Amino acid sequence: MKIALAFSGGLDTSVMVKWLQEHYDAEVVTVTGDLGQQKELIGVEEKAKTLGVVSAHILDLRDEFVHGYILPALKAGALYEGSYPMATALGRPLLAKALVDVARQTGCDAVAHGCTGKGNDQVRFEASVAALAPELKVLAPVRNWEFRSREEEIAYCQTHGIPVAATTANPYSIDENIWGTSIECGVLEDPMAEPPEDAYQRTVSPMNAPDEPCYVTIEFAAGIPVALNGVAMEAPELIASLNTIAGANGVGRIDLVENRLVGIKSREIYEAPAALVLYKAHLELERLTLDRETFHYKAKMANDYADLVYNGLWHSPLRSAMDAFIDRTQSVVNGLVKLKLYKGNIEVSGRTSPNSLYDTGLATYTEEDAFDHKASEGFIAIYALPLKTYHRVNNEAPNEVAK
Ligand code: ARG
Repeated sequence: MKIALAFSGGLDTSVMVKWLQEHYDAEVVTVTGDLGQQKELIGVEEKAKTLGVVSAHILDLRDEFVHGYILPALKAGALYEGSYPMATALGRPLLAKALVDVARQTGCDAVAHGCTGKGNDQVRFEASVAALAPELKVLAPVRNWEFRSREEEIAYCQTHGIPVAATTANPYSIDENIWGTSIECGVLEDPMAEPPEDAYQRTVSPMNAPDEPCYVTIEFAAGIPVALNGVAMEAPELIASLNTIAGANGVGRIDLVENRLVGIKSREIYEAPAALVLYKAHLELERLTLDRETFHYKAKMANDYADLVYNGLWHSPLRSAMDAFIDRTQSVVNGLVKLKLYKGNIEVSGRTSPNSLYDTGLATYTEEDAFDHKASEGFIAIYALPLKTYHRVNNEAPNEVAK
Protein backbone atom coordinates (compact mmCIF):
# COMPACT_ATOMS: atom_id res chain seq x y z
CA MET A 1 0.00 0.00 0.00
CA LYS A 2 1.15 3.55 -0.76
CA ILE A 3 -0.24 6.49 1.20
CA ALA A 4 -0.03 10.27 0.64
CA LEU A 5 -0.04 12.07 3.99
CA ALA A 6 -0.86 15.75 4.57
CA PHE A 7 2.25 16.59 6.58
CA SER A 8 2.83 19.68 8.72
CA GLY A 9 6.06 18.52 10.33
CA GLY A 10 4.50 18.75 13.81
CA LEU A 11 4.33 15.98 16.38
CA ASP A 12 1.10 14.30 15.21
CA THR A 13 1.94 13.97 11.55
CA SER A 14 5.56 12.96 12.31
CA VAL A 15 4.37 10.13 14.52
CA MET A 16 1.86 9.33 11.79
CA VAL A 17 4.49 8.65 9.14
CA LYS A 18 5.99 5.83 11.23
CA TRP A 19 2.61 4.65 12.42
CA LEU A 20 1.30 4.27 8.85
CA GLN A 21 4.50 2.51 7.76
CA GLU A 22 4.15 0.12 10.70
CA HIS A 23 0.39 -0.52 10.67
CA TYR A 24 -0.22 -0.76 6.94
CA ASP A 25 3.24 -1.89 5.90
CA ALA A 26 2.92 1.15 3.69
CA GLU A 27 5.14 3.41 1.67
CA VAL A 28 4.44 7.00 2.70
CA VAL A 29 4.62 10.14 0.57
CA THR A 30 4.28 13.47 2.40
CA VAL A 31 2.59 16.59 1.08
CA THR A 32 3.08 19.99 2.71
CA GLY A 33 1.40 23.12 1.39
CA ASP A 34 2.67 26.65 1.70
CA LEU A 35 -0.44 28.79 2.22
CA GLY A 36 1.56 31.81 3.32
CA GLN A 37 2.00 30.83 6.94
CA GLN A 38 4.60 32.91 8.74
CA LYS A 39 6.10 29.80 10.31
CA GLU A 40 8.94 28.70 8.06
CA LEU A 41 8.59 25.50 6.10
CA ILE A 42 12.36 25.12 6.18
CA GLY A 43 13.33 21.77 7.66
CA VAL A 44 10.03 20.06 6.86
CA GLU A 45 11.40 18.22 3.86
CA GLU A 46 14.49 17.01 5.78
CA LYS A 47 12.26 15.91 8.63
CA ALA A 48 10.07 13.84 6.30
CA LYS A 49 13.15 12.26 4.75
CA THR A 50 14.52 11.31 8.20
CA LEU A 51 11.24 9.50 8.78
CA GLY A 52 11.88 7.33 5.75
CA VAL A 53 9.25 8.64 3.32
CA VAL A 54 9.57 7.67 -0.34
CA SER A 55 9.16 11.30 -1.37
CA ALA A 56 8.47 14.62 0.36
CA HIS A 57 6.54 17.27 -1.57
CA ILE A 58 6.57 20.91 -0.48
CA LEU A 59 4.18 22.90 -2.63
CA ASP A 60 3.89 26.66 -2.95
CA LEU A 61 0.10 27.09 -3.02
CA ARG A 62 0.01 30.78 -2.14
CA ASP A 63 -1.16 32.17 -5.50
CA GLU A 64 -3.77 29.47 -5.96
CA PHE A 65 -4.99 30.01 -2.40
CA VAL A 66 -5.42 33.74 -2.89
CA HIS A 67 -6.88 33.72 -6.40
CA GLY A 68 -8.87 30.51 -6.27
CA TYR A 69 -10.17 30.49 -2.69
CA ILE A 70 -9.69 33.73 -0.76
CA LEU A 71 -10.83 36.20 -3.42
CA PRO A 72 -14.03 34.29 -4.27
CA ALA A 73 -14.91 34.25 -0.54
CA LEU A 74 -14.15 37.98 -0.29
CA LYS A 75 -16.35 38.75 -3.31
CA ALA A 76 -19.09 36.63 -1.74
CA GLY A 77 -18.76 38.58 1.53
CA ALA A 78 -18.78 35.24 3.33
CA LEU A 79 -18.20 35.39 7.09
CA TYR A 80 -19.16 32.31 9.11
CA GLU A 81 -21.79 33.20 11.70
CA GLY A 82 -21.25 36.80 10.67
CA SER A 83 -17.72 36.91 12.10
CA TYR A 84 -15.10 34.42 10.94
CA PRO A 85 -13.34 35.01 7.59
CA MET A 86 -12.53 31.29 7.42
CA ALA A 87 -8.76 31.20 6.90
CA THR A 88 -8.67 27.58 8.08
CA ALA A 89 -11.89 26.54 6.35
CA LEU A 90 -10.70 27.92 2.99
CA GLY A 91 -7.27 26.31 3.26
CA ARG A 92 -8.45 22.75 3.76
CA PRO A 93 -10.06 22.13 0.38
CA LEU A 94 -6.91 23.40 -1.34
CA LEU A 95 -4.63 21.21 0.79
CA ALA A 96 -6.92 18.29 0.03
CA LYS A 97 -6.67 19.06 -3.69
CA ALA A 98 -2.86 19.18 -3.51
CA LEU A 99 -2.87 15.90 -1.59
CA VAL A 100 -5.05 14.24 -4.22
CA ASP A 101 -2.85 15.56 -7.04
CA VAL A 102 0.31 14.14 -5.47
CA ALA A 103 -1.44 10.88 -4.58
CA ARG A 104 -2.35 10.42 -8.23
CA GLN A 105 1.06 11.44 -9.58
CA THR A 106 2.83 9.00 -7.27
CA GLY A 107 0.36 6.12 -7.60
CA CYS A 108 -1.02 6.09 -4.06
CA ASP A 109 -4.02 3.97 -3.00
CA ALA A 110 -4.93 6.18 -0.08
CA VAL A 111 -4.54 9.61 1.48
CA ALA A 112 -4.18 10.37 5.20
CA HIS A 113 -4.61 13.46 7.35
CA GLY A 114 -3.88 14.41 10.95
CA CYS A 115 -7.24 15.93 11.91
CA THR A 116 -9.00 14.91 15.10
CA GLY A 117 -12.40 13.24 15.27
CA LYS A 118 -14.25 16.23 16.73
CA GLY A 119 -13.39 19.08 14.41
CA ASN A 120 -14.55 20.53 11.12
CA ASP A 121 -11.27 19.92 9.34
CA GLN A 122 -11.72 16.14 9.06
CA VAL A 123 -15.02 16.81 7.28
CA ARG A 124 -13.44 19.37 4.94
CA PHE A 125 -10.58 17.03 4.02
CA GLU A 126 -12.70 13.99 3.49
CA ALA A 127 -15.58 15.69 1.68
CA SER A 128 -13.00 17.31 -0.63
CA VAL A 129 -11.29 13.98 -1.35
CA ALA A 130 -14.69 12.37 -1.93
CA ALA A 131 -15.47 15.04 -4.52
CA LEU A 132 -12.08 15.15 -6.24
CA ALA A 133 -10.97 11.52 -6.11
CA PRO A 134 -13.81 9.16 -5.21
CA GLU A 135 -11.48 6.20 -5.87
CA LEU A 136 -9.05 7.09 -3.07
CA LYS A 137 -9.34 5.66 0.42
CA VAL A 138 -9.03 8.17 3.28
CA LEU A 139 -7.25 7.34 6.54
CA ALA A 140 -7.63 9.46 9.66
CA PRO A 141 -5.30 7.78 12.18
CA VAL A 142 -5.93 10.29 14.99
CA ARG A 143 -9.53 9.02 15.16
CA ASN A 144 -8.47 5.48 16.03
CA TRP A 145 -4.84 5.19 17.03
CA GLU A 146 -3.73 4.19 20.53
CA PHE A 147 -2.20 7.47 21.73
CA ARG A 148 -4.14 9.29 24.42
CA SER A 149 -1.75 12.19 25.01
CA ARG A 150 1.19 14.14 23.73
CA GLU A 151 3.37 12.28 26.25
CA GLU A 152 2.40 8.90 24.78
CA GLU A 153 3.25 10.18 21.29
CA ILE A 154 6.64 11.40 22.54
CA ALA A 155 7.28 7.98 24.09
CA TYR A 156 6.49 6.40 20.70
CA CYS A 157 8.97 8.81 19.07
CA GLN A 158 11.65 7.71 21.49
CA THR A 159 11.15 4.00 20.77
CA HIS A 160 10.92 4.60 17.00
CA GLY A 161 13.85 6.94 16.48
CA ILE A 162 11.69 9.97 15.58
CA PRO A 163 13.48 13.22 16.40
CA VAL A 164 11.35 15.39 18.71
CA ALA A 165 11.97 19.11 18.60
CA ALA A 166 12.80 20.36 22.08
CA THR A 167 10.13 23.04 22.01
CA THR A 168 8.20 23.85 25.13
CA ALA A 169 4.68 22.65 24.46
CA ASN A 170 2.58 25.54 23.21
CA PRO A 171 -0.63 25.68 25.26
CA TYR A 172 -2.59 26.61 22.12
CA SER A 173 -3.51 24.83 18.94
CA ILE A 174 -2.68 27.22 16.13
CA ASP A 175 -3.46 27.09 12.44
CA GLU A 176 -2.10 29.87 10.32
CA ASN A 177 -2.00 31.09 6.74
CA ILE A 178 -1.97 34.33 4.77
CA TRP A 179 -5.69 34.93 5.40
CA GLY A 180 -5.57 34.54 9.16
CA THR A 181 -4.61 32.68 12.30
CA SER A 182 -6.93 30.39 14.28
CA ILE A 183 -6.09 29.82 17.93
CA GLU A 184 -7.82 27.47 20.36
CA CYS A 185 -7.26 25.27 23.45
CA GLY A 186 -5.61 26.06 26.77
CA VAL A 187 -7.27 28.81 28.78
CA LEU A 188 -9.36 29.76 25.71
CA GLU A 189 -11.57 26.74 26.40
CA ASP A 190 -13.23 28.79 29.14
CA PRO A 191 -15.56 31.13 27.22
CA MET A 192 -15.56 33.52 30.16
CA ALA A 193 -11.75 33.83 30.23
CA GLU A 194 -10.38 36.89 28.43
CA PRO A 195 -7.74 35.75 25.92
CA PRO A 196 -4.27 36.40 27.37
CA GLU A 197 -1.98 38.57 25.26
CA ASP A 198 0.33 35.62 24.56
CA ALA A 199 -2.45 33.88 22.65
CA TYR A 200 -2.23 36.45 19.87
CA GLN A 201 0.35 35.82 17.18
CA ARG A 202 0.18 38.61 14.61
CA THR A 203 -1.62 41.66 16.03
CA VAL A 204 -0.61 44.14 18.70
CA SER A 205 -3.01 44.82 21.52
CA PRO A 206 -5.24 47.79 20.67
CA MET A 207 -4.03 49.25 23.97
CA ASN A 208 -0.46 49.31 22.66
CA ALA A 209 -1.35 50.44 19.16
CA PRO A 210 -0.22 53.88 17.91
CA ASP A 211 -2.05 56.93 19.26
CA GLU A 212 -2.42 58.36 15.76
CA PRO A 213 -4.94 56.86 13.30
CA CYS A 214 -3.55 55.11 10.25
CA TYR A 215 -5.38 55.79 6.95
CA VAL A 216 -5.30 53.22 4.18
CA THR A 217 -6.84 53.32 0.73
CA ILE A 218 -7.81 50.21 -1.16
CA GLU A 219 -8.68 50.18 -4.82
CA PHE A 220 -10.83 47.46 -6.32
CA ALA A 221 -11.34 46.32 -9.92
CA ALA A 222 -14.28 43.98 -10.51
CA GLY A 223 -14.45 43.22 -6.79
CA ILE A 224 -10.76 42.38 -6.44
CA PRO A 225 -8.29 44.52 -4.47
CA VAL A 226 -5.66 45.81 -6.90
CA ALA A 227 -3.90 48.68 -5.11
CA LEU A 228 -3.00 49.59 -1.56
CA ASN A 229 -2.28 53.22 -0.67
CA GLY A 230 -2.04 54.05 -4.36
CA VAL A 231 0.48 51.32 -5.15
CA ALA A 232 -0.69 48.64 -7.58
CA MET A 233 -0.06 45.18 -6.16
CA GLU A 234 -0.89 41.59 -6.86
CA ALA A 235 -3.42 40.32 -4.34
CA PRO A 236 -1.04 38.05 -2.37
CA GLU A 237 1.40 40.90 -1.81
CA LEU A 238 -1.42 43.33 -1.01
CA ILE A 239 -2.86 40.97 1.61
CA ALA A 240 0.54 40.35 3.21
CA SER A 241 1.27 44.04 3.39
CA LEU A 242 -2.18 44.93 4.75
CA ASN A 243 -1.79 42.23 7.41
CA THR A 244 1.29 44.03 8.69
CA ILE A 245 -0.26 47.52 8.61
CA ALA A 246 -3.60 46.58 10.14
CA GLY A 247 -2.07 44.16 12.68
CA ALA A 248 0.21 46.95 13.93
CA ASN A 249 -2.92 49.00 14.66
CA GLY A 250 -4.54 46.28 16.74
CA VAL A 251 -6.96 45.43 13.94
CA GLY A 252 -8.07 41.88 13.17
CA ARG A 253 -8.90 40.20 16.48
CA ILE A 254 -12.06 38.09 16.71
CA ASP A 255 -13.25 36.17 19.76
CA LEU A 256 -15.96 33.74 18.73
CA VAL A 257 -18.13 31.04 20.25
CA GLU A 258 -19.10 29.11 17.14
CA ASN A 259 -21.18 26.15 16.04
CA ARG A 260 -19.10 23.35 14.55
CA LEU A 261 -20.63 21.08 11.95
CA VAL A 262 -20.14 18.12 14.31
CA GLY A 263 -22.55 19.66 16.79
CA ILE A 264 -20.12 21.11 19.32
CA LYS A 265 -20.01 24.74 20.40
CA SER A 266 -16.40 25.82 20.62
CA ARG A 267 -14.59 29.03 21.50
CA GLU A 268 -11.81 30.13 19.23
CA ILE A 269 -9.95 33.37 18.70
CA TYR A 270 -8.86 34.55 15.27
CA GLU A 271 -6.53 37.15 13.89
CA ALA A 272 -7.32 38.28 10.38
CA PRO A 273 -6.16 41.88 9.96
CA ALA A 274 -6.16 42.12 6.16
CA ALA A 275 -9.31 40.03 5.82
CA LEU A 276 -11.38 42.26 8.10
CA VAL A 277 -10.20 45.45 6.37
CA LEU A 278 -10.82 44.02 2.91
CA TYR A 279 -14.28 42.69 3.80
CA LYS A 280 -15.27 46.08 5.14
CA ALA A 281 -13.86 47.94 2.14
CA HIS A 282 -15.37 45.56 -0.41
CA LEU A 283 -18.83 45.71 1.16
CA GLU A 284 -18.61 49.49 1.26
CA LEU A 285 -17.95 49.63 -2.45
CA GLU A 286 -20.89 47.32 -3.08
CA ARG A 287 -23.10 49.70 -1.07
CA LEU A 288 -22.15 52.39 -3.53
CA THR A 289 -22.27 50.43 -6.79
CA LEU A 290 -24.81 47.60 -6.58
CA ASP A 291 -28.48 48.25 -7.21
CA ARG A 292 -30.66 47.76 -4.15
CA GLU A 293 -32.14 44.39 -5.12
CA THR A 294 -28.80 42.81 -5.98
CA PHE A 295 -27.20 44.19 -2.83
CA HIS A 296 -29.93 42.72 -0.64
CA TYR A 297 -30.01 39.38 -2.45
CA LYS A 298 -26.26 39.01 -2.31
CA ALA A 299 -26.26 39.54 1.47
CA LYS A 300 -28.49 36.49 1.85
CA MET A 301 -26.22 34.45 -0.35
CA ALA A 302 -23.17 35.51 1.68
CA ASN A 303 -24.53 33.60 4.62
CA ASP A 304 -25.20 30.44 2.62
CA TYR A 305 -21.79 30.69 0.98
CA ALA A 306 -20.11 30.89 4.40
CA ASP A 307 -22.06 27.88 5.71
CA LEU A 308 -21.12 25.85 2.66
CA VAL A 309 -17.41 26.66 2.95
CA TYR A 310 -17.33 26.18 6.71
CA ASN A 311 -19.12 22.87 6.36
CA GLY A 312 -16.58 21.45 3.92
CA LEU A 313 -18.49 21.67 0.65
CA TRP A 314 -16.06 23.87 -1.27
CA HIS A 315 -15.69 21.36 -4.09
CA SER A 316 -19.41 21.29 -4.84
CA PRO A 317 -21.61 22.26 -7.77
CA LEU A 318 -23.49 24.74 -5.56
CA ARG A 319 -20.33 26.65 -4.72
CA SER A 320 -19.36 27.00 -8.34
CA ALA A 321 -22.89 28.08 -9.27
CA MET A 322 -22.84 30.69 -6.50
CA ASP A 323 -19.48 31.93 -7.77
CA ALA A 324 -20.98 32.40 -11.23
CA PHE A 325 -23.76 34.53 -9.73
CA ILE A 326 -21.36 36.52 -7.58
CA ASP A 327 -18.91 37.16 -10.41
CA ARG A 328 -21.80 38.45 -12.52
CA THR A 329 -22.46 41.11 -9.86
CA GLN A 330 -18.84 42.27 -9.55
CA SER A 331 -18.24 44.00 -12.90
CA VAL A 332 -19.40 47.31 -11.37
CA VAL A 333 -17.50 46.90 -8.10
CA ASN A 334 -14.71 49.28 -9.07
CA GLY A 335 -13.32 52.19 -7.12
CA LEU A 336 -11.57 53.25 -4.00
CA VAL A 337 -12.31 53.05 -0.30
CA LYS A 338 -10.47 55.01 2.34
CA LEU A 339 -10.39 53.56 5.83
CA LYS A 340 -9.15 54.71 9.20
CA LEU A 341 -7.46 52.10 11.38
CA TYR A 342 -7.26 53.14 14.99
CA LYS A 343 -6.58 50.99 18.05
CA GLY A 344 -8.37 47.90 16.79
CA ASN A 345 -11.16 49.73 14.96
CA ILE A 346 -11.78 49.99 11.26
CA GLU A 347 -13.85 52.95 10.09
CA VAL A 348 -14.72 53.78 6.53
CA SER A 349 -13.86 57.42 5.97
CA GLY A 350 -14.70 57.71 2.27
CA ARG A 351 -15.58 55.88 -0.92
CA THR A 352 -15.65 56.72 -4.61
CA SER A 353 -16.36 54.81 -7.81
CA PRO A 354 -16.77 55.37 -11.56
CA ASN A 355 -19.81 53.09 -11.18
CA SER A 356 -21.23 54.96 -8.20
CA LEU A 357 -25.03 54.96 -8.09
CA TYR A 358 -25.00 57.77 -5.57
CA ASP A 359 -26.70 60.70 -7.29
CA THR A 360 -26.18 63.98 -5.50
CA GLY A 361 -29.08 65.57 -7.37
CA LEU A 362 -31.41 62.91 -5.94
CA ALA A 363 -29.86 62.83 -2.46
CA THR A 364 -29.35 66.50 -1.68
CA TYR A 365 -31.50 68.66 0.60
CA THR A 366 -30.23 71.84 -1.02
CA GLU A 367 -31.86 73.77 -3.89
CA GLU A 368 -29.95 71.51 -6.31
CA ASP A 369 -32.58 68.88 -5.46
CA ALA A 370 -33.73 67.04 -8.60
CA PHE A 371 -36.03 64.49 -6.93
CA ASP A 372 -39.72 64.72 -7.88
CA HIS A 373 -41.36 65.08 -4.45
CA LYS A 374 -44.86 65.02 -5.91
CA ALA A 375 -44.28 61.54 -7.35
CA SER A 376 -44.08 60.21 -3.78
CA GLU A 377 -47.75 60.93 -3.15
CA GLY A 378 -49.04 58.41 -5.68
CA PHE A 379 -46.29 55.96 -4.80
CA ILE A 380 -47.28 55.89 -1.13
CA ALA A 381 -51.02 55.67 -1.91
CA ILE A 382 -50.46 52.44 -3.81
CA TYR A 383 -47.66 51.13 -1.57
CA ALA A 384 -49.84 51.43 1.56
CA LEU A 385 -53.04 50.23 -0.14
CA PRO A 386 -52.88 46.62 1.15
CA LEU A 387 -52.40 47.86 4.73
CA LYS A 388 -55.23 50.35 4.42
CA THR A 389 -57.54 47.68 3.06
CA TYR A 390 -56.67 45.18 5.79
CA HIS A 391 -57.27 47.62 8.59
CA ARG A 392 -60.49 48.92 7.09
CA VAL A 393 -61.83 45.36 7.10
CA ASN A 394 -60.38 44.08 10.40
CA ASN A 395 -60.60 47.12 12.58
CA GLU A 396 -57.71 45.93 14.83
CA ALA A 397 -55.69 48.25 16.99
CA PRO A 398 -52.26 48.29 15.37
CA ASN A 399 -49.23 47.17 17.44
CA GLU A 400 -51.45 45.44 19.95
CA VAL A 401 -49.24 43.79 22.58
CA ALA A 402 -50.26 40.19 23.32
CA LYS A 403 -51.28 39.78 26.97
N1 ARG B 1 -12.71 26.68 14.13
C1 ARG B 1 -12.01 26.94 12.91
C2 ARG B 1 -12.63 26.21 11.76
O1 ARG B 1 -13.28 25.21 11.95
C3 ARG B 1 -10.53 26.65 13.01
C4 ARG B 1 -10.16 25.21 13.27
C5 ARG B 1 -8.67 24.95 13.46
N2 ARG B 1 -8.17 25.67 14.58
C6 ARG B 1 -6.98 25.46 15.16
N3 ARG B 1 -6.65 26.26 16.13
N4 ARG B 1 -6.19 24.50 14.81
O2 ARG B 1 -12.46 26.62 10.64
